[in-house]
Amino acid sequence: MNANHRRSKQLEEMRAKSRLGGGAARIEAQHKKGKLTARERIDLLLDKGSFREVDAFVEHRTHDFNLNEQKFLSDSVVTGWGTIEGRLVYIFSQDFTVFGGSLGEVHAAKICKIMDMAMKAGAPVLGLNDSGGARIQEGVVSLGGYADIFLRNTLASGVIPQLSAIMGPCAGGAVYSPALTDFIFMVRNSSYMFVTGPDVVKAVTHEDVSFEDLGGASVHAEKSGICHITGDNEADTLYLMRKMLGYLPQNNMEDPPFVQSGDDALRMEEALDTLIPESPDKPYDIKEVIHLIVDNGEFYEIQESFAANIVIGFARLGGHSVGIVANQPAVLAGVLDIDASEKGARFVRFCDAFNIPIVTFEDVPGFMPGTYQEHHGIIRSGAKLLFAYCEATVPKLTVITRKAYGGAYCVMSSKHIRGDVNLAWPTAEIAVMGPDGAVNIVFRKELEKASDPIKRKAELVAEYREKFANPFIAAERGYIDDVIEPKETRPRLINALEMLANKRETNPPKKHGNNPI
Ligand code: HXC
Repeated sequence: MNANHRRSKQLEEMRAKSRLGGGAARIEAQHKKGKLTARERIDLLLDKGSFREVDAFVEHRTHDFNLNEQKFLSDSVVTGWGTIEGRLVYIFSQDFTVFGGSLGEVHAAKICKIMDMAMKAGAPVLGLNDSGGARIQEGVVSLGGYADIFLRNTLASGVIPQLSAIMGPCAGGAVYSPALTDFIFMVRNSSYMFVTGPDVVKAVTHEDVSFEDLGGASVHAEKSGICHITGDNEADTLYLMRKMLGYLPQNNMEDPPFVQSGDDALRMEEALDTLIPESPDKPYDIKEVIHLIVDNGEFYEIQESFAANIVIGFARLGGHSVGIVANQPAVLAGVLDIDASEKGARFVRFCDAFNIPIVTFEDVPGFMPGTYQEHHGIIRSGAKLLFAYCEATVPKLTVITRKAYGGAYCVMSSKHIRGDVNLAWPTAEIAVMGPDGAVNIVFRKELEKASDPIKRKAELVAEYREKFANPFIAAERGYIDDVIEPKETRPRLINALEMLANKRETNPPKKHGNNPI
């Protein structure tokens, strides 16, 4: 065997060793938990055969705790690039079979390298997280490594999309990096996110809590709202990640991809004309409205189980990718509370950063009253949504389907805060407050004196509804561009999007605004 052959053989052996990660036993343990390995996940996520790995021969350099006796090629993360539907993405996938996917100096350097490449090439970074956090044996060097990543996450925010999938128990720094990215995907029943695990919780707060109850996918999808998308298993989660990318541009200098959907742009949808109940207090499902209007009824919902009184997600209209924000009358009458405001605000800011037009469906009785909401900061949270809509310069289309009362009228992409095309259905009620509340305040003295206050109130409510709770006063002032039949909504929105295709609007030059975070 000559020298060249020896080198080739060495290369082959090193590649095979690198592919084995923490070894066959640990791979088996990973599989036994129903989890895939870092490389298997990459193969599922990317287009077949497109992955190009970098730094497969990197090893850690630590001697403390005799770590030099345990070295693994690639260390505990697999990095590189590939394609999804033919479009370039950069990826890192943490390998739990090597030191529990924990992050030390070289693991951090590998992630930073591909993040820097992604920023230069203007392509998304996808992180598959499965990690015990900072590698304890590497001490402050691990912390420094995390901080290097956090800085890059922050600088890349709004420049390239960053998506994180949580695919195992993620603790410490392993949750803060995803928290800085745009969307977090979690796998039901096998992924967890917490600052510290159950053992530390027990020691510090004496609480007994399971992995699932502390930071499982359902906790973060329903209670904290930290998880945006939940997959039933790893394959499903990765499929949902691929699907989301189809709505996003590669970077903030591009428009999102146009995809011919085959759905007629002029399609009238008669069912919309009868969808709003006669009684203004009866709920209906805004998702039905969305499904009837968007291309092929396809709506990619985000944070479905959190603050369900507002609905957000991606869809296409005439092939154009749009972000949809919609009050949900079927949940808490669509009221804006703290969680709904924050959910909406972050999504509006994402769409604005990545040139995705925002379509708002409005049916909102106002902000949620009460001590809980006031004491926990509904003022600040509501202001976040207001700020997000005010600063957004992407095309903004609004359809008022029913209630647009009070501050919520102003907030939900009104004309006054640069809504480009504001439409209302004939069922729209646009006023400072609903008829009942308004009559109680304005006619309090008269009602106190009335011989039959119940009858008189009913008359006054009916008068108020007739006079104020309609779209025509706003239309008279030009606050609404047009009142349309519900069935026309799809063609009208597509026409508006095409009219706004070259919209350019900028905010005053500044370092950054001071939004009420
Ligand atoms: C080094 C680690 C590690 C870590 C796990 N391992 N976490 N090695 N540093 N942080 C190793 C284990 O020693 C073990 O090695 C292997 O990974 C698998 O771990 P297990 O505990 O056997 O697995 P499991 O029971 O599934 O539990 C997973 C876990 C748990 C929940 C992640 O390991 C855990 O609680 N780890 C510590 C989490 C943590 O507190 N990290 C520090 C956070 S501080 P062997 O050789 O036996 O296979 C931090 C600071 C950042 O991250 C600050 C940011 C703001």
